Amino acid sequence: MSDPARPLQGKVALVTGASSGIGEATAEALAAAGAAVAIGARRKDRLDDLAGRLRADGATVLALDLDVTDEQACAAAVERTRAELGGLDVLVNNAGVMLLGTIVGADPEDWRRMLTTNVLGVMYMTHAAIDGMVEQGSGDVVNVSSVAGRVARKGAGVYNASKWAVNAFSESLRQEVTGRGVRIGLVEPGAVTTELTDHITQPAAKEASLKAHASMTALRAEDIARAVLYMVSQPAHVAVNEMLVRPTDQER
Ligand SMILES: NC(=O)c1ccc[n+]([C@@H]2O[C@H](COP(=O)([O-])OP(=O)(O)OC[C@H]3O[C@@H](n4cnc5c(N)ncnc54)[C@H](OP(=O)(O)O)[C@@H]3O)[C@@H](O)[C@H]2O)c1
Repeated sequence: MSDPARPLQGKVALVTGASSGIGEATAEALAAAGAAVAIGARRKDRLDDLAGRLRADGATVLALDLDVTDEQACAAAVERTRAELGGLDVLVNNAGVMLLGTIVGADPEDWRRMLTTNVLGVMYMTHAAIDGMVEQGSGDVVNVSSVAGRVARKGAGVYNASKWAVNAFSESLRQEVTGRGVRIGLVEPGAVTTELTDHITQPAAKEASLKAHASMTALRAEDIARAVLYMVSQPAHVAVNEMLVRPTDQER
């Protein structure tokens, strides 16, 4: 009989951007629910730490050296997961960067990093995984978008555009594959305390983002991990397509 505390027993999940923040917490939550987990990111030391902790708790883990902006690396990550963990049931496209800043005076290198990581990264990983899911007639792709995919703000234009793209891609793909048993979910966090703001290059934008986070009781990565787990542990006939999760005191 299946263990209700471990609804993902026998499943295989791949989480991108698992070296910190929401991705790390999601890998922990999925492993605790019984899934074998492949964890991908660029910082190998952080992945190795996480893999060690998960294995100590009895999980089966595959650490993947993964840059989601590299199409070949995305294909290889999915291939290794299937070969070494025996399949792929859940793909969580979480890797992302938020290089906030005004459009006037921006460094377009920030834009390239956001669009290649947040948009092409999601597309490359999905492309690598989706055929197999359609063939097996089941699977979950969960894309971590943002409130920024629904509410545009001054000073967030290209980040907004990248997450808007994720939302549109997800809904189009959902219509394409849902009749074949594959569920597409979108999780849209509000402010979460992670390392995301560390990489902002425009000083005023970084300051404003830190100030905004400090003005509320920001979410913890675990709060979003629970949303992902809820989505992917529903019975096969239930598709939770979208979850917008804000701190209670975040107005917009
Ligand atoms: N924190 C928030 O308030 C918030 C709100 C809404 C949405 N989100 C979204 O949540 C997701 C996770 O962010 P987070 O808040 O957890 O921030 P984080 O702690 O900075 O985590 C970002 C993760 O993405 C990975 N990553 C970045 N570029 C990558 C690349 N080219 N290839 C592979 N992995 C890459 C990083 O790993 P490496 O650097 O080791 O590669 C890291 O594991 C992002 O998509 C973000 O847009 C966050």
